[in-house]
Amino acid sequence: MASEGSMVPMRERTTALVTGANKGIGYEIAAGLGALGWSVGVGARDDQRREAAVERLRAAGVDAFGVPLDVTDDASATAAARLIEDQAGRLDVLVNNAAIAGGMPQEPSSVDPATVRAVVETNVIGVIRVTNAMLPLLRRSASPRIVNVSSSVGSLTRQSEPGAEQTTGPVAVAYAPSKTFLNAVTLQYARELSGTNILINAGCPGYVATDLNGFRGVRSPEQGAAIAVKLATLPDDGPTGRFFDDAGIVPW
Ligand SMILES: NC(=O)c1ccc[n+]([C@@H]2O[C@H](COP(=O)([O-])OP(=O)(O)OC[C@H]3O[C@@H](n4cnc5c(N)ncnc54)[C@H](OP(=O)(O)O)[C@@H]3O)[C@@H](O)[C@H]2O)c1
Repeated sequence: MASEGSMVPMRERTTALVTGANKGIGYEIAAGLGALGWSVGVGARDDQRREAAVERLRAAGVDAFGVPLDVTDDASATAAARLIEDQAGRLDVLVNNAAIAGGMPQEPSSVDPATVRAVVETNVIGVIRVTNAMLPLLRRSASPRIVNVSSSVGSLTRQSEPGAEQTTGPVAVAYAPSKTFLNAVTLQYARELSGTNILINAGCPGYVATDLNGFRGVRSPEQGAAIAVKLATLPDDGPTGRFFDDAGIVPW
């Protein structure tokens, strides 16, 4: 008798989940992966924004499906993994893109600790929560990839260089260290998963015009999505536990 697992319809297409895919860089990552012919789960917490993004992607020819997901909620992450299992029967690539900036200014001497807590909860703990919910599915893939959308503002090297104001923006005690923390978390996963076929890397999209920065960024969301698409499509002998932007390695 066939086991319940083997009854699950498995999509033939490579399947990805992008968190925070309803707008900005996440939407364009979903579009970029969809353009490869992949099936793409559009992870988003708001029903209307998620459905609008799914419809837009489908109109552009992408095999998109909606995945209700609030990365700060354990039950939501568990339910998202169950939905992907039921609808797709597989997950090959996870792109942890969802994040918040937390509002500015964020000077250390005056920040509300609740702001730091909220930013870390979304940008770091959210990534761990979603990654761990998806790992059982990813482990069944032939070439699993995890991409953590980080930022060069999380680079301690860049932050401590002269002229950091120009290269890494204003002092931001919640957002910038959340990306440093995320980079460190990426490295810890890479160490634990070394010897498996899972490659996990962090990518910086550059300074992109999105809601996150009041559209002050200078790159387009499509340009910002390119590094995540590249890291999602690494060959089996590709790097793991590294931090990249379009120009190559970013120093930690
Ligand atoms: N823009 C830049 O210049 C820049 C530079 C470096 C790195 N990044 C990184 O790029 C990624 C995407 O940012 P973006 O610029 O595209 O920002 P964005 O337009 O503000 O998009 C952020 C996305 O994350 C989602 N999100 C936030 N909290 C969530 C939660 N608890 N659960 C589920 N989704 C949640 C948002 O959903 P809602 O619509 O529901 O709020 C939205 O879809 C982030 O990791 C960011 O740190 C951006």
